[in-house]
Amino acid sequence: MDFSTRTAAADAVKTDCVAVGVFAGGELATQARAVDTASKGALRAAVKSGDVTGKRGATVMLRCLPGVAASRVLLVGLGGRKEFSDKAFIEAVRTAVKGAGPGVKELAIAAADWLPAGRDSRWQARQLVLAAREAVYRVDELKSKKEDGNGGPERVVLVLSSRDAAAEHGLAQGTAIANGVELTKRLGNLPANICTPAFLADEAKKLGRSHKLAVEILDRKRIEALKMGSFLSVAKGSTEPPRLIVIKHEGAGSKGKAAAPIVLVGKGITFDSGGISIKPSNAMDEMKFDMCGAASVFGALRAAAELKLKLNVIGVVPACENLPSGTANKPGDIVTSMSGQTIEVLNTDAEGRLILCDALTYAERFKPAVVLDVATLTGACVVALGEVNSGLFSADDALADELLAAAKAAVDPAWRLPVQDEYQELLKSNFADMANLGTTGKAGAVIGACFLARFARAYPWAHLDIAGTAYKGGPAKGATGRPVPLLTEFLMQRAG
Ligand code: BES
Ligand code: MN
Ligand code: ZN
Repeated sequence: MDFSTRTAAADAVKTDCVAVGVFAGGELATQARAVDTASKGALRAAVKSGDVTGKRGATVMLRCLPGVAASRVLLVGLGGRKEFSDKAFIEAVRTAVKGAGPGVKELAIAAADWLPAGRDSRWQARQLVLAAREAVYRVDELKSKKEDGNGGPERVVLVLSSRDAAAEHGLAQGTAIANGVELTKRLGNLPANICTPAFLADEAKKLGRSHKLAVEILDRKRIEALKMGSFLSVAKGSTEPPRLIVIKHEGAGSKGKAAAPIVLVGKGITFDSGGISIKPSNAMDEMKFDMCGAASVFGALRAAAELKLKLNVIGVVPACENLPSGTANKPGDIVTSMSGQTIEVLNTDAEGRLILCDALTYAERFKPAVVLDVATLTGACVVALGEVNSGLFSADDALADELLAAAKAAVDPAWRLPVQDEYQELLKSNFADMANLGTTGKAGAVIGACFLARFARAYPWAHLDIAGTAYKGGPAKGATGRPVPLLTEFLMQRAG
């Protein structure tokens, strides 16, 4: 789907379909009024008939209106003008794209006053692309028969009353972010028998070739040489060999203050059975999504490259499987992390932190400006925040605020939870420097973050627990592509 702007009156756009808005109570949006006037009252007549109410999500298609250049006019219900929120805009775009029908090759959207309070045309254009691409996204890579029919219009045109460079830029930004989101979804949705650590490494190399990113893959030997005993202890339960994947976007050169990179660390457990502390079989298939943190790092790097951000960004992904076997971690095993700190593995299912801690230590070598790790880390975070907010943890208030602002702007919400020393005593072990989970079972998401904090002392750091937001279960099962919009927004802000 291609996106562009066109400067014209809504009634004069020669296209397959022009979508115009109707607010609650049948109030026509500005560009809808132009179409109404040109058609000598066809829209008002439709409102008067009772067919068009402006109810959010409702659509009515009118054809061959006299005086209107487009072959079809799609009336999109927007709901109340005063309550017109971010969500309402996103829903309206989705409604328009889905409502256009299979005959519409080019859809023009006249969205001039579909603007939530406090948002500008750049934001609107960006979200329009994301919402439209989301609306038609399909997972059919592994289906032998592809669904045909409404994959959405080939072209979407944003109809503007005057030229707007910010809107054009917003469309380009939206396209880059959507490309990142779709990479993340694709990798997340692939099953663990295909999406192995080696597969992820190959995908990173492909991304490197297509997007001019420097990619380095470290195999087991080199991971051993780095003394990543904690990461390797998880990996050794599986016959699939581990990989440490490093992807670099070098947008800011190597000198000056701007050169210190932002490092994104992503949890890449390609399947989490729990290991010897095995999980219940119910919905265990969903643990193929345990590499969504890694996938979001891939997606954010793709977006950063396409946006040509003047910023150095480095993705670090430890990838392995967590399986039970004769060589797997056993409860009570003590492993030595790359940092030298020893860890008692009380529960082999708390494996994410065991691979991330070594990646966090590895990140020190880049002298980062900031390190963000992204992980489907705890079920406790899903209990706390559900599927709405990602959990955000940082002891650094300024960094936390920056990320929360990025989350708001990107409509990819996050909610801050604490990382405080008061919780650290729960990680006490009688036999090692720390245990890999809390002794009381309370505050599980916080404890996970506090564990990671012990390895993230050399730089400003934040942790995103995306266990509830990275994918959906149930009938709409699938990866969401979150938090790529949040991460990309953060990177765009940092790039200035
Ligand atoms: N990958 C899981 C976390 C998870 C759970 C993600 C549910 C998505 C949905 C993680 O490795 C895990 O198993 N965590 C344990 C930690 C516990 C043993 C301290 C959990 O949350 O139960
Ligand atoms: Mn686990
Ligand atoms: Zn896991």
